[in-house]
Amino acid sequence: MKPFKWGVATSSYQIEGAVAEDGRTPSIWDTFCQVPGAVAGGDNGDVACDHYHRMPEDVALIKSLGVDTYRFSVAWPRVQPGGTGPVNPAGLAFYDRLTDELLASGIDPWVTLYHWDLPQELEDAGGWPNRDTAYRFADYAMLVFDKLSDRVTNWTTLNEPWCSAWLGYHVGVHAPGRQDHDASIAAVHHLLLGHGLATQRMKAAATPDHSFGITLNMGTADPATDSEADREAARRADGMGLRIYLDPLRKGTYPRDMVDDLAARGTAFPVQDGDLAIISTPFEVLGVNFYFGQDFSGTDEHGALLDAAGHPVVRDVKPAGPRTAMGWPITPDRFTRLLLRLHRDYPGLPLVITENGAAFDDTVIDETGFVTDDDRTAYLSEHIAAVLAARDQGADIRGYFAWSLMDNFEWAEGYAKRFGIVHVDYKTQKRTPKQSALWFRDMITR
Ligand code: FCB
Repeated sequence: MKPFKWGVATSSYQIEGAVAEDGRTPSIWDTFCQVPGAVAGGDNGDVACDHYHRMPEDVALIKSLGVDTYRFSVAWPRVQPGGTGPVNPAGLAFYDRLTDELLASGIDPWVTLYHWDLPQELEDAGGWPNRDTAYRFADYAMLVFDKLSDRVTNWTTLNEPWCSAWLGYHVGVHAPGRQDHDASIAAVHHLLLGHGLATQRMKAAATPDHSFGITLNMGTADPATDSEADREAARRADGMGLRIYLDPLRKGTYPRDMVDDLAARGTAFPVQDGDLAIISTPFEVLGVNFYFGQDFSGTDEHGALLDAAGHPVVRDVKPAGPRTAMGWPITPDRFTRLLLRLHRDYPGLPLVITENGAAFDDTVIDETGFVTDDDRTAYLSEHIAAVLAARDQGADIRGYFAWSLMDNFEWAEGYAKRFGIVHVDYKTQKRTPKQSALWFRDMITR
């Protein structure tokens, strides 16, 4: 059996705080948090978990959980304020110290270069819908790679480009909060191009020990009923959620049906000569973030096939059954199904689960801050079993990282939703492992 990594994951803006220290400039999330109504409770990442100042204590906490890997992200506006020009040594030094602290504790660092905190200046210049952002990303990636690649072997370019493109530029519930369908399609292509450019440049400077990849959030898209309309809606959802990323990355083409759908609404991926060769640069590991599977209907609540703008309806109807505090269905069987499908449709690509976890309404039971989160423990247990089931059936899965190390800033939900296996008291910044963390530690030992 190949070695299996056990880890915990976080991201920069969700935990670091210290948004104006050591030369960091604002990201699109700092800006978005100031928009009235954009984030629950008017919350922001100014302090978050204060990880920037408590990093050594947090690494000791990670070590106490018995994991061998820690997945974190690097904040672009810390390393290269404004998103262009020279490196900011004071900002990069934080990740240098973090890397050393992890290695000294026997924990393997797993770096994600982009987990949504785009420098605001690059958004002002057009953001991801602007082709130049892809080239800026590759330049930034090299600044980090040059500094850390002597100690960091695992490199992820992007976290969940679907969220950046779709939630950020089409739906508008994530930063930068734009609502422009065609801009989101351009963002998809430029995110993928940025991934490819960065991968090519890092690979040119890498040794055989380095491993590169991208993390996608994926689910399963089933038709709500067997009707033609629902099957069509599921096809569209699967295309927009999964195939428009994995087909260009692995096959060097956008899926024909999705290109036709986009043409029918008068838009297209802004592909230039050579782009797909760059995007399909081989990489070593696909990061899989899984939270739930979905069902889709091709009609609205009144039975109409087209929405107000005349576009086909693709309506997310959540499967029946238990839900998390996010309202997300709990569907571990679909996790197994997704992993086997990836193994079948995109062969030869090792998988690592880079995120999986759940928010529940935790209750602190004593003065130490302890939380008996049976629900989260069950979620983790069922989903780890689902991963191991897919592995037993032949999927090449190399690791599992729980989301998240600790409660943190959950984007548009602010601090109201807690995903941590460690409880954070935001008043005192005290960290207390929950029952799920103790279970995870004991499970890894076994
Ligand atoms: C994922 C994000 C991560 C976290 C979880 C709950 O989409 O990558 O930062 O918010 O969802």
